[in-house]
Amino acid sequence: MVLRVRLLKQVMGLFIIAAFLIFLYGWRDGKPLVPALPSSLHLSSSSKHQSSSKHSSLHQSSGHVPAASLLTPTDLGVHVINNQQQQQQDQFVEQEVVPLDPQENDLLYRPPLDLAFIFTHAKDNFALQAKLRSAVGSLLQHSSAPLRLHLITDEDGFHIASEIITEVQAANQLDLRYVKLVYVSADDFVSEIRESVDLLRKFLTHRSNAYYSDPLFFFSFFLHRLLPGLDRVILMDVDIKVKGDIAELHSHFERFSPTNVMGMALEQTPSYRHMLSVYRKAHPNTTLGGPPTFSNSLSNAGDARDTLVHRHGFPGYNSGVVLMDIKKLRESKIIASYMSHSKLTNLTQHYNFHGQLGDQDLYTLIAFDYPDVFYTLPCSWNRQLCVWWRDHGYKKIFNEYWTCNEELKIIHGNCKTQIPEDA
Ligand SMILES: *[C@@H]1O[C@H](CO)[C@@H](O)[C@H](O)[C@H]1NC(C)=O
Ligand SMILES: *[C@@H]1O[C@H](CO)[C@@H](O)[C@H](O)[C@H]1NC(C)=O
Repeated sequence: MVLRVRLLKQVMGLFIIAAFLIFLYGWRDGKPLVPALPSSLHLSSSSKHQSSSKHSSLHQSSGHVPAASLLTPTDLGVHVINNQQQQQQDQFVEQEVVPLDPQENDLLYRPPLDLAFIFTHAKDNFALQAKLRSAVGSLLQHSSAPLRLHLITDEDGFHIASEIITEVQAANQLDLRYVKLVYVSADDFVSEIRESVDLLRKFLTHRSNAYYSDPLFFFSFFLHRLLPGLDRVILMDVDIKVKGDIAELHSHFERFSPTNVMGMALEQTPSYRHMLSVYRKAHPNTTLGGPPTFSNSLSNAGDARDTLVHRHGFPGYNSGVVLMDIKKLRESKIIASYMSHSKLTNLTQHYNFHGQLGDQDLYTLIAFDYPDVFYTLPCSWNRQLCVWWRDHGYKKIFNEYWTCNEELKIIHGNCKTQIPEDA
C-alpha cells in the first residue's frame, strides 16, 4: 500500500513536469516575443542596402510591420489578434536565424564620414526645414558609409534638425546606428570670428545684397576652428538633393595633390564673368571669368587643373559642396595671408572685383593667384540649377557655363531654384 502511494506520487510528479514542459513549448510557439531584436537588425541591414536587389524582398516583408512593435516586444503579445499579424510574426521567427550579412558587418566597422550642414535661423522657417529634410533624406538613402552629421546651428535649430532626421530615418526605415548627430554651436562661434568676418564682409559684400552678409556665409574659412577635431569634412548647403553615394564623393579626397586644401565644383553661371567685367575689358586675353571650354569632360579636372586655368576659362568656384582638408586649412599660409586688410584692398582693386556671394568669392579670388590650392570636383557633384544670369544679359553664352553632361550626383537648387520632384 505504501509502495503504491509512493509510485503514484512519482507518476504524478513526472506528469506535472511533462505538462509543464508542454506548456512551456506551447507558450513559446504561440507568442514569439524574443525575435523582435534580430529582426530589427535585419530590417536595418536590408533597408541600408535597398539598392541591392537581393535584399529588397526581405526589406519589403519586414516593412509591413509597424515600427513601434519592433521596439516594444511586450506590446507584441497583446497585438497577436488577427491572422494577418500572426503571419507577420511567423516571418519574424523565420528571419531570426538570418545572420548579420557581411555588408552590414563591414558597414558597422567602417569609420564614419564627417559631413557638415549650416542650419541657422531655422525656427519657423518651414521652407528651410523642408530643404534639410530633402537634403538629408536623399543623402542617407544613397550613402554606403556610416555618417557623422555636424549640424552648425543653434539650440532650437538642433532640436528641429534632430526631429527631421529621425523622421527621415523612420520614413525610409534607415538604421539609426549609421548616423550620429553632432551639435556645433554657431552662436558662440559668431562672436569668436567677428573681427575676421567684419573684414571679409567689408570687401566681399555688396551693400545691396544683405543676404550674403550673414557671418555664416564665411564660416567655411574657419572650419579648422569650428571643427578642430576633424581631419576631413564635406560641407554642404541644405538646398541640395543627393543622388549619388557620398562615400564616392569623399573618395575624391584621395585625389588631392599635396597642395590642394579644398575641393569644389566650378561655378556654372557667368556670375564671375560679370563681376570681372571691368578687369576683362582691360585684359581681353584673360582666362579669368571665362567659360571652361571642356566643361563636358571635367571628370578628370583634378588632374588637369593647371590646364584648366591657363589654357581655358576659369569661371570661379561654387561653395555649395566643399571638400575641406581641415589639417591643411589650419596650416595653409596662403589662405591665412588673405585675411588681411592690405591684401584684400589690393586684390579687389587689382581685379576690380565686387564680390557678393560670401566665401566662394574669396575662394575664387585665391584661385586666380593660387590655383593649386584647389581641387576641382566634377560638375556632377554640384550641379547648380540657378539660371538667373541667363535672363539677365548672358543668354548667348550662358550654356557654355551651365552645360554638365555627367550623371548627376548632387543637384543644387541655388538662388532659390526649386529642385524638380523627379530630378
Ligand atoms: C591677345 O591675344 C592676341 C592673339 O592671341 C594677341 O595678338 C594679343 O597681342 C593679345 N593681347 C594682349 C593684351 O596680350
Ligand atoms: C596686388 O595683387 C596682384 C594680384 O594678386 C599682384 O599681382 C600684385 O603684385 C599685388 N600688388 C601689391 C602691391 O601687393
